[in-house]
Amino acid sequence: MEKIAVYPGSFDPITNGHVDLIRRGLRMFDQLIVLIAHNPNKVSRFTVEERMHMIKEVIKDQERVRVDVSSGLLVDYVRDNGASVILRGLRALSDFEYEFQMALINRRLNRDIETVFLMTGYKWFYTSSKIINEAASLGGNVKGLVPDLVYQNLLKKYGNVKE
Ligand code: PNS
Repeated sequence: MEKIAVYPGSFDPITNGHVDLIRRGLRMFDQLIVLIAHNPNKVSRFTVEERMHMIKEVIKDQERVRVDVSSGLLVDYVRDNGASVILRGLRALSDFEYEFQMALINRRLNRDIETVFLMTGYKWFYTSSKIINEAASLGGNVKGLVPDLVYQNLLKKYGNVKE
């Protein structure tokens, strides 16, 4: 039977850290669904359509990956799409408590679904979409932290990123 994992997140926008996790997740699972899920605690900078477009472009050569959007409960999406695993990346210590809480509530909501964590690649350990947006919006050069297409979109959005 095919092992399907859902990799949920805000992806606002997708970073090289996310791309690394997708690549490594594909070594463990037959299919990966990159899911733009609703995080009620965050205000998005890119629209869902913009985020979807960027992810689709970035993963277009990966046959075993698809992109989807959900505004509901994550565990319900996972169950309804024939998956049994939630994939998340773990960065520096600050992620731990939040990720632990999410994994536990998701397990309480559906005991058939497991959360699997991969350590974020060391190059991306301290980067996040949030910090990349902040740097880019103030004119910082974030080239190399995001795929080229995302970099172009940050340039368009904030206009003043230094080369
Ligand atoms: O990239 P993020 O913002 O850290 O991802 C968090 C996300 C979107 C995965 C999380 O907020 C989520 O799972 N949202 C869907 C709603 C849900 O099921 N929440 C958890 C149980 S209350």
